[in-house]
Amino acid sequence: MAESIAFTANAERKIIYDEIVPQIDALVDGESDVIANLANIAAVLREAFGFFWVGFYLAKDGQLVLGPFQGPLACTRIAFEAGVCGHAYTTRETVIVPDVDKFPGHIACATASKSEIVVPIMYRDGGIFGVLDVDSDRLDDFSLVDGDGLNRIVKTIERFI
Ligand code: SME
Repeated sequence: MAESIAFTANAERKIIYDEIVPQIDALVDGESDVIANLANIAAVLREAFGFFWVGFYLAKDGQLVLGPFQGPLACTRIAFEAGVCGHAYTTRETVIVPDVDKFPGHIACATASKSEIVVPIMYRDGGIFGVLDVDSDRLDDFSLVDGDGLNRIVKTIERFI
């Protein structure tokens, strides 16, 4: 297993996604433990992009329950229909929120969080495993580049869950 990741510091995000996606593929290749892989993916995303918060909420017990993450303390449980995470969960679509204060029902785990992107993670049978949630402390910090890059990483996750 690789002990570190390599990426071009301060490059535009598209370049960094292109650099880290194959390294994440290699990182999880041969490791079957889901939590260990999610933990390392959260760490790679935080290190590569400096995101304020990045982590996973996993569907269990009829709720979204906090999984591996990097960043400040976060809400432990989110109802399936609540917040940005719940919206991605129920619609099965990537959700980009440029200003969380303008999103009805946004759950403020941290007041410093200003914008957010959430990507659903699906099982092969069409069921939903959970979501990848990334928060920024800057307004309007996520674009379709992040939507594409994070969906590529979620495709990798969908191979080992
Ligand atoms: N803001 C999210 C909750 C999770 S935290 O941001 C880590 C939401 O509205 O779903």
